[in-house]
Amino acid sequence: MCGIVGYFGEQKALQNVLLGLERLEYRGYDSAGISILDQKNQRFTTIKTTGRVETLKKRSAHVAETTLGIGHTRWATHGGVSEVNAHPHTAYNGRFIIVHNGVIDNYKALKSDYLKGIEVLSETDTEVIASLIAHFALSVPTEVAIEKTLALLEGSFALLIIDQDHPDRLYGAKNKSPLIVAQSHNGWIVASDLLALPDDTQHFHVMDDHSWFYISANALSLYHFSGKPQEPLFEPFTHLGAQAQRGEHAHFMLKEILEQPTIIEHLIQRTQTEPFDAALLATLRSASSLEIIAAGTSWHAGLIAKHWLEKALNKPVHVHVASEFAYHPPYVSHKPCFIFISQSGETADLIACQPVLKALNAPLLTITNVPTSSLARMADFVCDLQAGPEIAVASTKAYTAQLTLVALLIAQLTEQSHFYHDLQHIAHEMREFLSEPQRLQPVVQRTLIKNNAFYMGRGLDYWTGLEAALKLKEISYIQTEGFAAGELKHGTIALIEENTPVIALITDAKTAMLTRNNIHEVEARGAKTLVLSLRSLAQEKDAIILADVNPMLAPILTVVPTQMIAYYAALLRGLDIDKPRNLAKSVTVE
Ligand code: M6R
Repeated sequence: MCGIVGYFGEQKALQNVLLGLERLEYRGYDSAGISILDQKNQRFTTIKTTGRVETLKKRSAHVAETTLGIGHTRWATHGGVSEVNAHPHTAYNGRFIIVHNGVIDNYKALKSDYLKGIEVLSETDTEVIASLIAHFALSVPTEVAIEKTLALLEGSFALLIIDQDHPDRLYGAKNKSPLIVAQSHNGWIVASDLLALPDDTQHFHVMDDHSWFYISANALSLYHFSGKPQEPLFEPFTHLGAQAQRGEHAHFMLKEILEQPTIIEHLIQRTQTEPFDAALLATLRSASSLEIIAAGTSWHAGLIAKHWLEKALNKPVHVHVASEFAYHPPYVSHKPCFIFISQSGETADLIACQPVLKALNAPLLTITNVPTSSLARMADFVCDLQAGPEIAVASTKAYTAQLTLVALLIAQLTEQSHFYHDLQHIAHEMREFLSEPQRLQPVVQRTLIKNNAFYMGRGLDYWTGLEAALKLKEISYIQTEGFAAGELKHGTIALIEENTPVIALITDAKTAMLTRNNIHEVEARGAKTLVLSLRSLAQEKDAIILADVNPMLAPILTVVPTQMIAYYAALLRGLDIDKPRNLAKSVTVE
């Protein structure tokens, strides 16, 4: 949550920082701010606004371009959405200015231990950091004041720090929240993730936890919190070009939904030419259990992966909600292998599981779309989804890529080569469906007419229903519940009344008739039903009929119409589809 950017170089700092903020806005978008060096008086001009980077851009149009600046786009944690709480924050004496991504758990204690009687303007934990540095800098050099402060901070933070008394330096620090330091032809850019980097970036260094830096005279100096110097490990940068642009599409979400068939085809092709690491396959085979840990949509992918892996490998596979596993770890078998599934690779709830995993000393595979991410860097094995940047807050293509990748892993683990063909077939049918998605719009308009809705299904359709419900609620704000159709009469039916929307998924021949009975039961109580089925199980009135595919892999296909249902529901309600209220793309605080 929150995106930070800093620029220090020969060119226009304001332009570079604003560009970075625009690209990071998906990380948080309730307020934004910048501080830019004013060449004349060597002091910094700070501008903050509630709302979007677009507003910040307008409000900073008068700022003269210089060479040093920092910026922030916020997802509020401590303190409401207001200009006062927006970053950058300034120390009590005005000397230090900082932007922060993360949460300082002990900020109240630090305030009462070190800053008694000092007035704070905002309700944020961040202002305390700026004032602490200022407090120490009264008696020691800036570098030492920063180190002393870092030693006291508990929690997660990526920081950029400006010392107005030394406007020839940009400082930064990192623990748990991501931070990347990169060099372009004309200067240095520091940002929360690679997406913010300008196209002419040459190379980048991914900061380790407990490290801090300063940039001066066009050189980077990197240290451990203890003060020990470190060597940056630069990696070449390939810019993402059109991949990170919305192009002709009305929304990133739509663009990302449409990309799915190509991503699946790419993954199939890649796996055929570059098989999975033999050591990974051996580890998965020899583990006594597989323990999948994930959150949100990735957790839903984990639920389906569990079902597939258990059947394929004939061993227990458990799926854990990351935030639960971190603090209430269940019993795990004597030789587990852990699997993190995460689009961003930065989800704080998964990072919080690390101490438990370390204590168990078990191997870890991370399946992620960001191979430079924290969760990738802590793993023994990494599987890169290569789905391209996912910008819309609602995850779509990462989910189908996660499922496809697990299916491909199973294909190689169990030598089921027909999976390649089955997945190709799914990609083909998905493309067919997506060639005319707009025919769903009137169906959605007719059906989703209330502020609540239900998804029901059995077996794999139940898990898909959970993901479909999450998608619908997060972007349309329709309160949606996914449930196992067999549970209907055990409680949920009490909520069915005239016009209650109920969407049923039917892809399993064994239970199709049972779910049909459930449809009759809700219709008898006035529900408006919408049925999605596979052709061989379809009935005339079904609104969405998809081609028959391998039923085991069907969730990769069936989720796509549910993504479009969510998309149209939000569109019809005139909502901000890519940036739904209160959410942020990467949940980097617990
Ligand atoms: O980046 P991750 O896959 O770890 O993110 C997990 C969830 O925060 C994410 O899937 C979230 O639920 C999405 N908004 C769902 O669309």
